[in-house]
Amino acid sequence: MHAELVNFKESALAEIGGAKTPIELDSVRVKYLGRAGLISKLSESMRDVPKGDRPRLGKLLNEVRLTLSAAFEDRAATFAAQHDLSAIEDIDETLPGTPLRVGSLHPLTQLQNRAIQVFRRLGFALAAGPDIETEWNCFDALNTPPNHPARNETDTFYLFDGRLLRTHTSTVQIRTMLAAPPPVRVIAPGAAYRRDEMDATHLSQFNQLEGLYIDKNVSVADLKGTLEYFVRELLGSQVETRMRPHFFPFTEPSYELDVRLPGVNSGRWMELLGCGMVDPNVLEKVNEGRGDRAYDPEVWTGYAFGMGLDRLAMALFGLPDIRLLIENDQRFLAQFS
Ligand code: PHE
Repeated sequence: MHAELVNFKESALAEIGGAKTPIELDSVRVKYLGRAGLISKLSESMRDVPKGDRPRLGKLLNEVRLTLSAAFEDRAATFAAQHDLSAIEDIDETLPGTPLRVGSLHPLTQLQNRAIQVFRRLGFALAAGPDIETEWNCFDALNTPPNHPARNETDTFYLFDGRLLRTHTSTVQIRTMLAAPPPVRVIAPGAAYRRDEMDATHLSQFNQLEGLYIDKNVSVADLKGTLEYFVRELLGSQVETRMRPHFFPFTEPSYELDVRLPGVNSGRWMELLGCGMVDPNVLEKVNEGRGDRAYDPEVWTGYAFGMGLDRLAMALFGLPDIRLLIENDQRFLAQFS
């Protein structure tokens, strides 16, 4: 019986080692270790063994069972490892991966950032104010009379409490001067709102960039020089500029600055911004609001300007419809990444 068991073990190990697939291995396992397998049969035949030999042979049989179990597990682990290897064998790591979609700044934000950079180089600081404003900051302090058409309910979004959505970023001029004494040199990019019907060239919310410079002896020449420098930096040295007399309640004299650029807006002049010398009445309103004479118009002068960024973006990027700027269409936006 002892020699039989040793032979049995040897041939079982040989079969385990010879199994070529997990399925073959499994049938070998069933043959030896299964419920009705050879090991079970050997256990049963122990009954026929003389009593004195049983402990020794029983112990040996148990060792054979453990050895075979371990051998099966080893072999199964080898198969599993081979399977894992062959699963990644076919992967070609030199193939390009699935591209990640990289986002980019909105074209208007890009344009705004470029404009801000030019003014920062000239020493302008960034200022900001809220979109919801008082009538005083939006109109009264800006020397706009109560009967001015811009104050009409059909032009301006009023809230129930009498406040409004600012119709221009010029409100930040007032906020800046109320907050600090002169000199002042700020720009304020931001949203403005008007009750326009939306169409290809109008939105009820649009984007402006405001500028304010208050110091001693500021002249129209400073305004013109600064704006011409800005326009050249932003649009290139081929750009032409012209200043036309205009009217704004809060500047005197007032101008509009037009630009002309080959290949843009069909080579026609386009209106870029409104500007002018800050009206002394505005400085007096600010003094009233501050309760001091920090902005004495006999001492301080200055200029202000405000430009619309959406129309400029339309012209520069050749957009047929302003609504492209707010529709968030990936096919449009991806062209500016
Ligand atoms: N606030 C004016 C507008 O919205 C632009 C402007 C700003 C004009 C500053 C003069 C000075 O049209």
